[in-house]
Amino acid sequence: MTISLSDKARARCSWFPDLAAYDGPRYKALADALADAIHKGELQADQRLPPQRLLADALGVTTGTVTRAYGEAERRGLVEARVGSGTYVHLARAGDKPDFYHLTVDQPDDSIDLSLSLMVPNPARLESLHQAMQKMAADPRQLAAALAYQSERGQPQQLQVFVDWLDRHGVQVSSEQMMVTDGGQHGIFISLQALLAPGELLVSDALTYPGVIAAARQLHLRHLGIPLDEEGMDTQALERLCQQQRPRAVYLMPDQNNPTGRVMSQARRIHLAELARRYDFWIIEDAVQFLPPAYRHQRLAELAPERTLYLFSTSKILAGGLRVGLIVAPPLVLPRLMAALRAHCWMAPPLMVALTCAWIESGEADQLLQWQWQEVQERQQLLAEIFQGQRYSCHPTGFVVWLELPEGWRVGEFVRAAADAGVRLLGAEPFCVGNQSVPQAVRLCVSPPKERAVLQEGLLRLKRLLESPPQGRAVF
Ligand SMILES: Cc1ncc(COP(=O)(O)O)c(C=O)c1O
Repeated sequence: MTISLSDKARARCSWFPDLAAYDGPRYKALADALADAIHKGELQADQRLPPQRLLADALGVTTGTVTRAYGEAERRGLVEARVGSGTYVHLARAGDKPDFYHLTVDQPDDSIDLSLSLMVPNPARLESLHQAMQKMAADPRQLAAALAYQSERGQPQQLQVFVDWLDRHGVQVSSEQMMVTDGGQHGIFISLQALLAPGELLVSDALTYPGVIAAARQLHLRHLGIPLDEEGMDTQALERLCQQQRPRAVYLMPDQNNPTGRVMSQARRIHLAELARRYDFWIIEDAVQFLPPAYRHQRLAELAPERTLYLFSTSKILAGGLRVGLIVAPPLVLPRLMAALRAHCWMAPPLMVALTCAWIESGEADQLLQWQWQEVQERQQLLAEIFQGQRYSCHPTGFVVWLELPEGWRVGEFVRAAADAGVRLLGAEPFCVGNQSVPQAVRLCVSPPKERAVLQEGLLRLKRLLESPPQGRAVF
């Protein structure tokens, strides 16, 4: 019997993963396997990882792949390289829950990426940004102001630009109650930090935006999820919870839950506002996934203005790289929010805020928004035709689609099979609050492909998979 190089190396490895269970490029599969092993306790805090060349031989990959995987794990804060000594599991990380909230910048490949809720690509966006930049650059007074420190809330005339813009899209707010943030995620973090102390209870939909799960963890909050159905958050269940525990805040996306695309009914909105008054909690209303006025219901900020924070961002309209968002909050709470913002970053970058305002004032932002709303609606219609007979929920003008898998498919297998078929999407787990059982569902987004034809191809590939679930599993 001959013993291969890989068998010999494997015998000497203190840890050896089975990469067959992971999809994507090998370095990422190895980084994911490392994350899981740390989470499950197979790798302990401060444990030294196998030397890179040894693990590469054992796995039959290049040393470069292992180096890249260790680098990726380090970037995620899971391990640390110690000079001259090797790579170790991060002391603070072992036992931590896995962090699903990160953007993995993979090498571009041929996959059709439906995994992230990004704006629809539009060449006109670059052109109109270019023009807004040129206009700004031609005005030395505006440029000088954009380079200076400014009030943490934003300059009054900038706040007015946002007020007028929102007004044009059916949202009436006062500049007195508004402050500028570094985007929607920052708005969530600042709001939670200003309103809740460590250990206090945050409630959200049981399926929610992963950014709020990540923020609650960082702030050491207790976080519970309430089930949601076709009418949004089950406010009866929330009421039962309030009878036993004291939530300090409820976070939700009533116009379009991310990931399910579900809309909260008017009756539930009214009930939620009543509960907020009766049980004295704050409401954080996230409107970052901004919808056309005809599809919006009454805002929670209108139903309970004295206790609702309304969050908005330009990321899904103009560009995620601007990092410009807004919080509209009751006057009583603004000083706390401003203190939190100062402690973070003093102010949202004035240059970016000025550029965003110039872009909005040019009128081009409105055109981009109208175009995107129309395009998304057509993409959703395309999806409805292709997914006829499947169980899914979505909003007719929204980016996200929640697809319930038919009998026979399990979520991990489906995500891997989709990746093998060249389509990327996300399984349910990143959206699950707490340790509820993970639904057999995936989230996909209609917005990222450059062209509708590419989306169509991706959806057709998924449809073929949905119609041919694996034929049973061998059990030994
Ligand atoms: C519901 C929701 N809130 C907040 C955010 C974060 O927005 P931003 O990119 O502006 O930080 C996102 C981004 O996808 C989102 O979907």
